Amino acid sequence: MDTPYYLIDENRLVENLKKIQTLREKSGTRSVLALKCFSTWTVFDTIRQYMDGTTSSSLYEAKLGYDTFGKEVHAYSVAFSKADIIQLKKYADKIIFNSVAQLKTFYPDVSHLDIGLRLNPQISYSDFDLANPARQYSRLGVIDIQDVWAVSHLIKGVMFHYNCENKDFENFSTLLDMISHTYGELLHQLEWVSLGGGISFTQEDYPLEHFSTKLTAFSTHFNIQVYLEPGEAVIANTTTLVTTVLDIVHNERDIAIIDSSIEAHTLDLLTYQEQAKITGDRHGAHCYQIAGNSCLAGDIFGECCFNVPLRVGDRIIIEDVGGYTMVKTNWFNGVKMPSIVIKRRNGDMNIVKTSGYIDFKNHLSSVSD
Ligand SMILES: Cc1ncc(COP(=O)(O)O)c(C=O)c1O
Repeated sequence: MDTPYYLIDENRLVENLKKIQTLREKSGTRSVLALKCFSTWTVFDTIRQYMDGTTSSSLYEAKLGYDTFGKEVHAYSVAFSKADIIQLKKYADKIIFNSVAQLKTFYPDVSHLDIGLRLNPQISYSDFDLANPARQYSRLGVIDIQDVWAVSHLIKGVMFHYNCENKDFENFSTLLDMISHTYGELLHQLEWVSLGGGISFTQEDYPLEHFSTKLTAFSTHFNIQVYLEPGEAVIANTTTLVTTVLDIVHNERDIAIIDSSIEAHTLDLLTYQEQAKITGDRHGAHCYQIAGNSCLAGDIFGECCFNVPLRVGDRIIIEDVGGYTMVKTNWFNGVKMPSIVIKRRNGDMNIVKTSGYIDFKNHLSSVSD
């Protein structure tokens, strides 16, 4: 198969999904897939069997959820336009506004739907300020509880998204207690609450039992339907980027150049300055910097030491690149776009997306040949 390509392993996906299903069965918590993280809809037939619907960040994501996933369609945006709202009415079951002003402006258009408001609890877990929803001057959600009370008769639910890659159950538990304490009176009056995404509850060592018990207690106490909006937890450890070494150059060290670009194909790693996980023995004697084929000087995936020297034509596999990658790909430098391949549960390999020169050409101006 021609490289580069993203390879999604459905068996691994199902391992994550089974944990989500267990949580659903044990605690009654519903989970909606965060499309901002993963929108490769050809695997939605599988995901749909284990999840309750989708959540979105824009009109187009909401429409995609409606068209390709079905079940519940939650629509949130940092700011909707009037045109968005008119369209959304056709697709969304729940509309979650980011501000009281937007809620008041559009309520007359959508009062027949299930309306929610995003709150900013001013507490969060995130290793990155860039992704911290409670960072200073955050525009994400309503802060003043008095403002919320003034419109509480218009809403059936609220959404808190306050975690980012939170692997620490004790921390999750403490933050949830703080939310219960601050918003308890409001939660008692509502039908549903979404605790957002950013919780790494499908990781191997995460205490899923405790998580489930905590959510059950929370839901029972407030007599409220709890939702989660996992993105990364659904797709973690399911997807690799398969590439080929095109050249090996030397500048004080050996540098292997692959047929992919961190800027174009795994942008999240660059944004958060994280090293790519590269398949291979890191303790071998033959060490290389693995670099991309764009002109960006810092287009570097990471370091890797192999047991045998690399040669042009060898495969380099970047691990765990399912979330926030395919949704962020771009045509920088006109670098060849990775295909998308699904390894189905029966072992079949399906190429579900290929891109070529015409896609590149039409990306910025649509003129037919
Ligand atoms: C509102 C909201 N919900 C859900 C998510 C999904 O988070 P994750 O992919 O980390 O689970 C995000 C991520 O930014 C978000 O902003």
